[in-house]
Amino acid sequence: MNRAQWGTRLGFLLAAMGSAIGLGNIWRFPAVAYENGGGAFFIPYLFALLTAGIPLLIMEYTIGHKYRGSAPKSLGRVSKGFEWIGWWQVLVSFVISTYYGVIIAWAAIYAYYSIGQQWGDDTQGFLLSDFLQVADAGVFGGFVPIILVVLIVIWFVVLGVLFAGVRKGIELANKIFIPLLVVLFLILVIRALTLDGAMDGLNTFFQPNWSEIMNGEVWVAAYGQIFFSLSIGFAIMITYSSYLDKKSDITNNAFITGFANSSFELLAGIGVFAALGFMASATEQPVTEVVSDGVILAFSVFPTIINEMGGFWGDAFGILFFASLVLAGLSSLISISETYVAGLQEKLNISRSTAVFAGGGLAALIGLIYATKGGLNFLDSVDYFINSYGVALAGLFEVVAVAWYAKSLKDLQNHANSVSDIKLGLWWRFSLGVITPIVLGYMMLQNLKKDLVGTVDPATGDRTFYGGYPLEFLFNYGWLVAIGAMAIGAVFAMKKWPNNDLSYNYKAPTSSKDSKEVSQ
Ligand code: ALA
Repeated sequence: MNRAQWGTRLGFLLAAMGSAIGLGNIWRFPAVAYENGGGAFFIPYLFALLTAGIPLLIMEYTIGHKYRGSAPKSLGRVSKGFEWIGWWQVLVSFVISTYYGVIIAWAAIYAYYSIGQQWGDDTQGFLLSDFLQVADAGVFGGFVPIILVVLIVIWFVVLGVLFAGVRKGIELANKIFIPLLVVLFLILVIRALTLDGAMDGLNTFFQPNWSEIMNGEVWVAAYGQIFFSLSIGFAIMITYSSYLDKKSDITNNAFITGFANSSFELLAGIGVFAALGFMASATEQPVTEVVSDGVILAFSVFPTIINEMGGFWGDAFGILFFASLVLAGLSSLISISETYVAGLQEKLNISRSTAVFAGGGLAALIGLIYATKGGLNFLDSVDYFINSYGVALAGLFEVVAVAWYAKSLKDLQNHANSVSDIKLGLWWRFSLGVITPIVLGYMMLQNLKKDLVGTVDPATGDRTFYGGYPLEFLFNYGWLVAIGAMAIGAVFAMKKWPNNDLSYNYKAPTSSKDSKEVSQ
């Protein structure tokens, strides 16, 4: 059976950018950058981009391109024992896909609520009490009907795109979504920049706090942002690059994806802070008082900004912002879900449609949990743990396995160089073999310490853990989910491949010099 392939190089690039540019760019980056030193954050951020983000992206593109399979198959072809890391990453993506959809559903509903600012004056009260109807941690509390219905529609769109295939589905969808997203977002940012107070917002954002540069946590934040934002350690980029033409450039494509993603991130930072500057000046508060992140930034602070604008521009600004979230989110969710569609298809030797139905259907079904009144709490905890001990940890395992255990960097470098204009050198191997494992290892220890030991309130002596949630809740909907992804990944890896596919005299499609028989 012929393997699916992208129609054009641009098609692949748009799909990879579509995957990278997501909620992480629009609501995560501006607040992370601000909280970690503002202008001074750009130094660790650029360092992380150049020594981890782009080198790892090149590595993942090369593995997918050379070994031509889903993440478990490609990593298994690098070395048999690595198949487990591939499945682990696929399961991490599976978990992320279950909750990513509900955020897109909220954004779609808020695009509609923007018309006439249907959320009223108390935007936070509306969000938590009227819209999400937030229940206590661990309580499901029944479905919120409107969220349930829109979430089901979102999954129909995603599964429809995946059913249609790589070229006619994913590539076509991204060719529409990404240019549209860029146009909508540019209009939004230009409008934000022309608001009163916009410059105060930008000054606050870019104001460098140099003392933060020596703070280890700031570097950890920069690496975390780059991983999430570039979709590395998610099994996505290996899967997407496995659909590339054999002669396709790798290194250049990775630089283009990386810089496009960071440019969009910067643009989002400018747009969000210009709007925050406007809100601060309209409500006569300092900008520092109005900054927030994630759900509150998008679904409470932005509605307040839209209220301040009112009239035509209020409606339009809201629709532009929430439609951008929907487009950026959809193109990322499609890529996240493609990882398990490709993995299941290959491992179980089933058709694409069956894999979409089984994998996507199950993700959609589990995802309904987030349409309940307890949804926000589940989302918060699962998201935190799966990112800390899924994406980043699986990325660390991948890099150490490939660089140190299989000692494959030189081989991968030769492969990338044989098809790419930009030639990789020592900097690439040093970044992956030395810098990335050290920084990620340190990051992991810091996170573990924080999550296992907790934080003690000096006034009361009380010890709290992530988000102030009860320990039992964090165990069930945090630790167990992250450890479960690792364990279930191992079970998948134990199952035999159809036709002994991992090992049947597999010849890497490259020049004879560096082609490698995988025959163990
Ligand atoms: N890279 C995707 C994002 O930024 C997952 O949201």
